[in-house]
Amino acid sequence: MSELSTVILLGSARNPGNTYHLAQALADKLQAGLLDLNRYQIKPFDYAFQNQGDDFPGLIREVLTYERIILASPVYWYAPSGSMKIFMDRLSDLLKIDKPLGRQLRSKRAAVLATGSDAVPADCFEQVFTHSFAYLGMQYDGMLYASCDEDFIHEQHVKAIDSFCRGLHAE
Ligand SMILES: Cc1cc2nc3c(=O)[nH]c(=O)nc-3n(C[C@H](O)[C@H](O)[C@H](O)COP(=O)(O)O)c2cc1C
Repeated sequence: MSELSTVILLGSARNPGNTYHLAQALADKLQAGLLDLNRYQIKPFDYAFQNQGDDFPGLIREVLTYERIILASPVYWYAPSGSMKIFMDRLSDLLKIDKPLGRQLRSKRAAVLATGSDAVPADCFEQVFTHSFAYLGMQYDGMLYASCDEDFIHEQHVKAIDSFCRGLHAE
């Protein structure tokens, strides 16, 4: 079966941190691109769209060259990280001023990677993504959550990573 081209967008307050290590493990297995949102200057959503000179327009064009988009975020206060939220807010640009690009999202598959200290993430965390992907017309392939007591210990998550990747291949 041919693998879909995949990009992982990392939105974490630290690199390398726990979410980076999870994202890198997936990137290795899926031969996916890994882009760190911290390396881009992405301004918050602006109703007047005076932020179009930042890195978001170029970044989203690159992201849309892939067939599957995986968003990777730590759980910060039951929610996606600030950098991930800013990125997601900016997807509104595509619905307002670049509708042809926005329509391209409808042909994409989506998934989520997350780390947190809780054994199980609060439902509201994943719901932010599932509702957003549904609104954008993207097909959702699920979330891989790695509970990290302190550091990300790869061996503790190997089975879950393998199983998640198998699930993606089966879609
Ligand atoms: C600001 C902040 C808020 C956090 N809130 C939560 C939370 O609500 N639930 C949780 O399980 N872990 C929470 N954590 C723990 C992180 O999600 C966890 O350590 C994660 O693996 C960090 O990933 P990172 O190294 O990519 O930042 C929080 C950590 C920080 C720094």
